[in-house]
Amino acid sequence: MSEPSDAARPLIVAIDGPAGAGKTTVARRVAAALGLPLLDTGAIYRALALVAKRKGVDWSDAQALGALTQDFPIRFVPAPSPESPQGVFVGEEAVTKEIRSPEISEGASQVSAHPPVRDGLLDIQRALAAKGCVAEGRDMGTVVFPDAPHKFFLTAQPGARAQRRHAELVARKGPEAPSLDAVAEDLARRDARDSGREVAPLSQAADATALDSTRLSADEVVQAILDQVRAGAARA
Ligand code: DC
Repeated sequence: MSEPSDAARPLIVAIDGPAGAGKTTVARRVAAALGLPLLDTGAIYRALALVAKRKGVDWSDAQALGALTQDFPIRFVPAPSPESPQGVFVGEEAVTKEIRSPEISEGASQVSAHPPVRDGLLDIQRALAAKGCVAEGRDMGTVVFPDAPHKFFLTAQPGARAQRRHAELVARKGPEAPSLDAVAEDLARRDARDSGREVAPLSQAADATALDSTRLSADEVVQAILDQVRAGAARA
């Protein structure tokens, strides 16, 4: 049996990088431009952390968290426009807003370090990508979709990432948003955990294109990605 040709394979664009590098905005716009669904894998880890909290499962309990991933009923509902967030559902319940709190950010980083959690969510992520997608996370190009034809690693300097994350929180929470210093500390702690864990740490795939968004606008990053994806499609 021969391998399926590239033309027959679902198109997967993998975008990895640390928190606050602009992945979410960029991935959303790239997905809209290519007419592909957006697979926000951070949202899956966030939803798992939320469900664990509600069920009284500790974020350090690898086995119990692994059990929670079995048939985890996560679904995404496409956004009405590229600028608005897609809906994130666990079963019938929308958790779109609740999973974005600083507490759940920390929980997602903790639960995602456990091997039974990563293993348990692997097939779910691949099933959600069956028809192609723009996949955003930490290990898209390295572990979940190692054969993706287009891989990008989006970075930005820590100060720029903290400022962006802070601006997002101020836009959402107004005066109740944490201070810039608190956001910077939180990002540094999560980065260290996400990059230092033993299983599927945040790292750039050997065949990924690195893009530093510190001095690029989101539109410039989107354009660079689209140019590369379209050049690849033209060659295929
Ligand atoms: O991208 P995000 O901030 O929504 O991700 C939340 C956490 O989930 C992040 O701290 C690390 C983890 N994560 C992961 O380990 N692997 C992924 N593919 C996506 C997110």
